[in-house]
Amino acid sequence: MDGLNILATGRKIPARCVTNDELSRMVDTSDEWITTRTGIRQRYLSGEGETNAAQAATAAALALERAGLTAKDVGLCVVATFTPDHSTPSLACEVHGLLGLPESAPAFDVNAACTGFLTALEIARCFLAAGRLDSPYALVIGSEFVSRVVDFHDRSTCVLFGDGAGAAVVRLSENHPYACRLGARGDAEILHAGGLGSQDQTLHMQGKAVFRFATEIVPKSITGLLEEAGKTLDAVDHVVCHQANGRIIDHVVKKLGAPPEKFYKNIQRYANTSSASIPIALDEMRELGLLQPGQTVLCVGFGAGLTWGATLLTI
Ligand code: ACO
Repeated sequence: MDGLNILATGRKIPARCVTNDELSRMVDTSDEWITTRTGIRQRYLSGEGETNAAQAATAAALALERAGLTAKDVGLCVVATFTPDHSTPSLACEVHGLLGLPESAPAFDVNAACTGFLTALEIARCFLAAGRLDSPYALVIGSEFVSRVVDFHDRSTCVLFGDGAGAAVVRLSENHPYACRLGARGDAEILHAGGLGSQDQTLHMQGKAVFRFATEIVPKSITGLLEEAGKTLDAVDHVVCHQANGRIIDHVVKKLGAPPEKFYKNIQRYANTSSASIPIALDEMRELGLLQPGQTVLCVGFGAGLTWGATLLTI
């Protein structure tokens, strides 16, 4: 049984909304620069006392409730993050504790930066397919406090990111065809953050190089996976691209000669929430009634590592 069914999703976004105008009072930037270069109009940033674990657990609890399940039904908890509250315990173990998941449910984090959610989803599918878990349901979460590793004096990065969490409850299903292809290339030069023992924990990025990488790898990932699945873009109802920059998505649309309306965009509201961007988008799309049973959704991610990946889902 190869398919994977996303039974339900949930999201948790911090309360504090920071507009481009507000940021332009902190660094030398402007709403006009940010909007035209990125499409971002605002982002949500976590505040004092908020934890990534609580955010992830809230998104997960919502997804469980919508799936008609409780914590005791969970067989596995995988959290994609590169901004956990602690190096250890993992964010997944903290979520495990907060939700009261069964002791038989393994819990661990995955760090594949902005490709994290798709990586976590594939890992969950493999665990479920191995048939060794006590329950057929897995919790897959992407949750980030990117603002923790952003230097709010550096205008070239601080305008780009936001915080948030998205979660999905999944199980295997032969009625929900699924395919995934992931890739990686070690290159810390163009995009990295933090480091144990390092004084500088902030995020550094060569914007143009990341832009070039993204506009190469995203179309390649899409066409590669479609070819493998014997499909064309016509058979796909929605493409959910990692939301890093609206212009990256526009470039991809142009390169593929695709209809722009097929590509979901919410970067204007949330900015780049890294591993949370795809599950937040899926949750929002469900809420808006955009996702209908039987539809095919192609998700595609890219990020630090470098990492990338594409996933075909059936709703
Ligand atoms: N406001 C005003 N001016 C700015 C800002 C800002 N926020 N940031 C940079 N500038 C200035 C620069 O200083 C530069 O000025 P100069 O010409 O006087 O030297 C000028 O704007 C142009 O800067 P560039 O960096 O060349 O701008 P570019 O057009 O490349 O856009 C951007 C920058 C938006 C970052 C773009 O390169 C991009 O989106 N890259 C991809 C980023 C990305 O996707 N990152 C996420 C990776 S995912 C992850 O894993 C974390």
